[in-house]
Amino acid sequence: MKLLFTNIKELLQVRETSVSKLSGKEMNILPTIKNAWLLLEDDKIFDFGKMENLPEISADKTIDLTGKMILPTWCDSHTHIVYAGNREQEFSQRISGLSYEEIAKNGGGILNSAKTLQNTSEEDLYKQSAKRLEEVMQLGTGAVEIKSGYGLTKDAELKMLRVIKKLKQNYNLPIKATFLGAHALPLDYKNKKEEYINYVIDEILPAVAEENLAEYIDIFCEQGYFTVEDTNKLLKAAAKFNLRPKIHVNQFNAIGGVQAGVENDALSVDHLEEMRAEDVESLKGSHTMPVALPGCSLFLSIPYTPARMIIDAGLPLALATDFNPGSAPSGNMNLVVSLACVKMKMTPEEAINAATINGAYAMDLSEKVGSITKGKLANLIITKPIPSYTYLPYAFGSNAIEAVYLNGEKI
Ligand code: NIG
Ligand code: FE
Repeated sequence: MKLLFTNIKELLQVRETSVSKLSGKEMNILPTIKNAWLLLEDDKIFDFGKMENLPEISADKTIDLTGKMILPTWCDSHTHIVYAGNREQEFSQRISGLSYEEIAKNGGGILNSAKTLQNTSEEDLYKQSAKRLEEVMQLGTGAVEIKSGYGLTKDAELKMLRVIKKLKQNYNLPIKATFLGAHALPLDYKNKKEEYINYVIDEILPAVAEENLAEYIDIFCEQGYFTVEDTNKLLKAAAKFNLRPKIHVNQFNAIGGVQAGVENDALSVDHLEEMRAEDVESLKGSHTMPVALPGCSLFLSIPYTPARMIIDAGLPLALATDFNPGSAPSGNMNLVVSLACVKMKMTPEEAINAATINGAYAMDLSEKVGSITKGKLANLIITKPIPSYTYLPYAFGSNAIEAVYLNGEKI
């Protein structure tokens, strides 16, 4: 099946040769072709060019996109889409003045979600999660990472990871699974943190690996949660099962999580709302992608990741939603791109690069998605008629997406 798009106002993120990630000044360059055509063959990008050089093509179907643009789908490299119930109560409590940390201390937060999830059947959890996945696909997400971490028992963590596996089987977008057993200390282990870490390492991790349920390992490295020492211990144990780290660090306090990530060759270090000069320094020369989650900063009213400090130091940066019931109940990558521009002073070019190719890198998917490159998956966003690509972050909160294609098929 050959599908041809013609008269594309602007084809965005065109990379003749595939790049794995973009760093520093490179991030400010977004290659495009104005007045373009794009040919898909089956599920892949086959060819593209300028309309004035459109060759004779016998396509099965041709779609005229006058006034509209095409870009690769968003690559959301950090989500907790699989969860049960919601936490609107805590939202109200925060509006009345309690902080995220105070709510967590009173039994809310992650433990609240864990309790709900433990009492939810696998079928129901799948249904609730699939609904959210479908919603973000309509919002232009074409590759996504999903974490466990609301189970906190062997059974419930495996239940979450099996739901992710089922989502992988039933939805035709790349999905990567991350085991986040060390997300919070369950009540049963109060004052017994070491015991819990050992339980995660000795009991849950081998089962996760045995069933091949995860590609990555995560831990919430934060004051009041897990220390750098816990982090090193877990990451080293997970490395034996070939689970590469993608970890929660520097959300509320900079305690050395970035360095632990780099030392353990993390694929990404995520959150980074609190960044010291030495944290930025430690990322230089590493293979670790820093990931910012501005939806969480918006929702919790905490600082935004200092994108300028990171990019101006020559580093790469990716953007993701952190979609979860407590700190970011939205999986809208379009809003994330807007927030990155408005609140983090990223240029539209930097933000689009961060939400596509750099997000792909943070899931080991740069070869498959994240740019308009021959041979990559035809995972595409078709915009409504828009005046320029800057309009996408500019018109925050409005939906500029007309259609989403995954594997060359409209969803
Ligand atoms: O990424 N920080 C840790 N985990 C999630 C929030 C978890 C929750 O509140 O449910 C996050 O922000
Ligand atoms: Fe998160």
